[in-house]
Amino acid sequence: MCGIVGYIGKRQAAPIILDGLAKLEYRGYDSAGMAVFDGEKVNVKKAVGRLKVLEELTHDGATMPGTVGIGHTRWATHGAPSDVNSHPHFNGDKTIMVVHNGIIENYIPLRAKLQKKGYEFVSETDTEVVAQMLDYYYDGNPMETILKVLHRIEGSYALGIMFADHPGELFAARKGSPLVVGQSEDGCFIASDVPAILKYTRTVYFVDEQEVVRLEPDHMHFYTLDEEEIEKQPTTIEWDADAAEKAGYEHFMLKEMYEQPKTVTDTLLPRIKKDTIEIEELGLSDEEIARIRKIHIVACGSAYHAGVTGKYVIEGLARIPVEVDLASEFRYRNPILEEGAMVIVISQSGETADTLAALRESKARGFKVLGIVNVVGSSIAREADNVMYTWAGPEIAVATTKAYSAQLIALYLLAMKFASVKKTIKEEEYKKLLRDLKRLPDQIELLLNNKKNIQHFANRYIGARDIFFIGRGIDYAISLEGSLKLKEISYIHSEAYAAGELKHGTISLIEEGTLVAAVSTQPELYQKTISNMVEVKARGAFVLAVTNEGNKEIEKAADYVIYIPETNPYFANSLAIIPLQLFGYYVAVGRGCDVDKPRNLAKSVTVE
Ligand code: G6P
Repeated sequence: MCGIVGYIGKRQAAPIILDGLAKLEYRGYDSAGMAVFDGEKVNVKKAVGRLKVLEELTHDGATMPGTVGIGHTRWATHGAPSDVNSHPHFNGDKTIMVVHNGIIENYIPLRAKLQKKGYEFVSETDTEVVAQMLDYYYDGNPMETILKVLHRIEGSYALGIMFADHPGELFAARKGSPLVVGQSEDGCFIASDVPAILKYTRTVYFVDEQEVVRLEPDHMHFYTLDEEEIEKQPTTIEWDADAAEKAGYEHFMLKEMYEQPKTVTDTLLPRIKKDTIEIEELGLSDEEIARIRKIHIVACGSAYHAGVTGKYVIEGLARIPVEVDLASEFRYRNPILEEGAMVIVISQSGETADTLAALRESKARGFKVLGIVNVVGSSIAREADNVMYTWAGPEIAVATTKAYSAQLIALYLLAMKFASVKKTIKEEEYKKLLRDLKRLPDQIELLLNNKKNIQHFANRYIGARDIFFIGRGIDYAISLEGSLKLKEISYIHSEAYAAGELKHGTISLIEEGTLVAAVSTQPELYQKTISNMVEVKARGAFVLAVTNEGNKEIEKAADYVIYIPETNPYFANSLAIIPLQLFGYYVAVGRGCDVDKPRNLAKSVTVE
């Protein structure tokens, strides 16, 4: 989603802004722009397409001198990607500049009101309304004007604002969209996300809901919407800027796939103490766990897929009923939350608008929410009652891999913790499960080392039109994620189906040579899935099976088999997903796709 970078200080602003925007490229965007004050006036440059077009246009920022400026990468919502719709947006005489992430929901009536007063709009965006309204209310005092406007706009925003007649100040404001500010000896920074400014400073402040920041070259002031000054504590970012670099890998996605053994270890081991699972962050006593009657898991995208697996594992091990919802559905379906319900939201970014709204909805109804979150200090992490972090580190590729793997681990740990408190599994089984959990990192490593074979196989399918994934139970959950990985980065149409459901319509799409990937890791369902494989094979499908070592019988029904090492069936997702991630990746690479930044997608979806 849109990226914002702003700078005010001693150095040239444009190169810092471009550099910061490049670090936010992973968020997804389709145009970029920047405004810099040159001592007399504000210069604006915008360009559709990749950031490098803007870099070339400005000679890497050299043609835009000045020490204060704001920049933006836009992911189009209102109006197609075009120069004129790109940010920054401005008033008629280009003295007020605005960059925005989020959606101004009441922009239509506001625009109509301003048009009646003679204002002319050049873009189709909601953001332009903010620039023009600032102009309308401007009385020489930027802060007061900004507050007036913020009181009148509805929706969500992270804003960066610059006034040409106050070049010693920059302004930022937040409601519903992520925003951080930072300070170094050389100046102050605004950004949508930490990686944009990490090269310059490790001291950042997470801007909270409905806060406004006034930045000067050597100082920052925080205010409420009632202009009361707030004292805020800085956060020191511990992780390294290198963690957000490719480290020799061709793509971030490949690098992040290879980080999965570490991610799994980091999420798992700190929570195993003396062969017992201890999740201190859970904030629930054993008595409270014993009283849980139902669990609601709410998430989007791959985090939702992790949740689907979580349902099978928690229900299977702890015998607690679990409902899994897409956050965009949950928030508007008036869900029934009854006494004894626990809500778990899962999010890599911690900023997904729908997931955040689901969290707020649950809290408003008086239910405690546990967040399984990757980004420290993100909105969901701050608003959840308790946070269980997935220690995956920064994930840059839009298609998630390592964060998803870490989410699975967090869910397994919860399932086992609940099972042990509720005594739904025997001591022996618990110990065996723990042993299997600890073996996962090495087993994932083993599967990653098989990448050449997968690449070879994937190359056969770079011209495919449709690819189907089928499985039952947990294998269905794995199929959902395998299919999403493939389609989101390769643009090949793909669907995941519960294996038994395919024959109720979708099987009519199977043609001679159509690839069907059948996931079969649950021994009690082997035979059932084999029947479904045979059904598609009889209609011409080429069947790829992903199954456990030793399940030789599957070779009768499959054309190609990928074996995963032995583990407890509840944990099979962590292994079976590895070859499927590699498969999606290599198909996309073979097709020459922009693997890390697939078209139309955003890493962090901060609009609903
Ligand atoms: C976007 C990303 C997905 C992600 C989903 C949920 O669509 O491209 O990879 O699974 O959002 O994001 P979250 O940050 O809440 O896990």
